[in-house]
Amino acid sequence: MKYYIKTFGCQMNFNDSERIKGLLRTLGYQEAESWQEADLILINTCTIREKPDQKVFSHLGEYRKIKEENPKALIGVCGCLAQRMGYQLVQKAPVVDIMFSSFNIHQLPELIQRAQAGYKAIAILEEPPQDEDKLWEYPTVRDNPYCAYVTVMKGCDKNCTYCVVPKTRGRQRSRSIESILKEVKQLVAEGVKEIHLLGQNVTAWGQDIGSHFSELLYRVAEVDGVERIRFTTGHPKDLDEKIVKAMAEIPQVCEHIHLPFQAGSDRILKLMDRGYTKQEYLEKIEMLKEYVKGITFSTDVIVGFPTETEEDFEETLDLLKKVKFEQVFSFKYSPRPDTPAYSMQDQVPDEIKTERMQRLLELQKSILGEIAKSYEGTLQELLVESVEDGNKFIGRTRTNRWASVKSRENLLGRVVKVKVIRSHPFSMECELLN
Ligand code: 5AD
Ligand code: SF4
Repeated sequence: MKYYIKTFGCQMNFNDSERIKGLLRTLGYQEAESWQEADLILINTCTIREKPDQKVFSHLGEYRKIKEENPKALIGVCGCLAQRMGYQLVQKAPVVDIMFSSFNIHQLPELIQRAQAGYKAIAILEEPPQDEDKLWEYPTVRDNPYCAYVTVMKGCDKNCTYCVVPKTRGRQRSRSIESILKEVKQLVAEGVKEIHLLGQNVTAWGQDIGSHFSELLYRVAEVDGVERIRFTTGHPKDLDEKIVKAMAEIPQVCEHIHLPFQAGSDRILKLMDRGYTKQEYLEKIEMLKEYVKGITFSTDVIVGFPTETEEDFEETLDLLKKVKFEQVFSFKYSPRPDTPAYSMQDQVPDEIKTERMQRLLELQKSILGEIAKSYEGTLQELLVESVEDGNKFIGRTRTNRWASVKSRENLLGRVVKVKVIRSHPFSMECELLN
């Protein structure tokens, strides 16, 4: 039996898919090269903005053809859109045989059995079930043998007024330190060097189980063989001095942080219910720079939140200029049903969102050009993840930039010192140092 999984959305969703693959492997399934060859097609969906919602239905329209060739083939939908739409989704797309959400991935074996017996196997729960931790018992199947995502918490307790995540992924549930360390040890034994801790708001890890994220960082770093640690996503409000100090003290924690600011205007930040001002955000950046020498930043920004004026938007541009992020993920505000911002007055017209987005991208392009140049001649450390044309080895710097280095010796999976010769916006060419 073969499966095919199409994944949309964030790294969390990708990691969920890696675990679904592990689960399917324990059931005896193998990965198909294409959906046409699969006995089970799954779409792991995202609903953060309107666009990914639409894509799911166009994919379902295509995948349904599988049933003409292979009438026993099953089609499943899981993830955030499944959670948000529930039965409505099956009404709209009757071709769906199996549906579940991120609450109950571990129930997939039973759902497949039910669907094979000819029933619609739909299990969308209101609340995460008691036994959701069973999920951690399944291994992950990963494409990258050296860098692994480890989910450390599910859900989110923040109430950003634009965001569906608290609804689709539920309240914050931190995974226990024992369960996390068990997985980290297993991954390292399999050859993984870089551990990437994942959560909708990892910096709040522990708050619901009487612990603190800094504790988790120290404990993960103690595992023999962990060469690098990263984490995503941080929330400025929960990023405190204890975490920053841990980042500075732990040699394996990389000099990079993804810290979404979403908007530069205090008025908009308040409407978003982000819990900080522009000034407070900048203070966190200063604290990070002070403790963690050479740290680089990436961020998420929303353009055109309801009521955003030209002045508000200029505050966003100002923040970009001040921090100089190495990567900016920018999104046009997309109204999501059942969120407070959906019904706010004065939604910004799409043409204005588009125009502001273009200006933001222009500005970021010039900032990135400057940053890229500043890397030339510097010494960096790469963890080599892949190889092209036999001798071009590709890896990431600790500051999270892609770089390549030529070598006759196989460097895969190794941490090497390099000198940057040429640096472009999204890549760098380096020379190997001994
Ligand atoms: N519209 C646009 N962007 C959004 N994001 C979250 N919700 C919305 C929305 N309704 C963005 C935020 C978040 C990223 C994952 O997606 O910037 O950090
Ligand atoms: Fe999309 Fe958010 Fe769900 Fe990730 S958590 S898949 S970004 S809706």
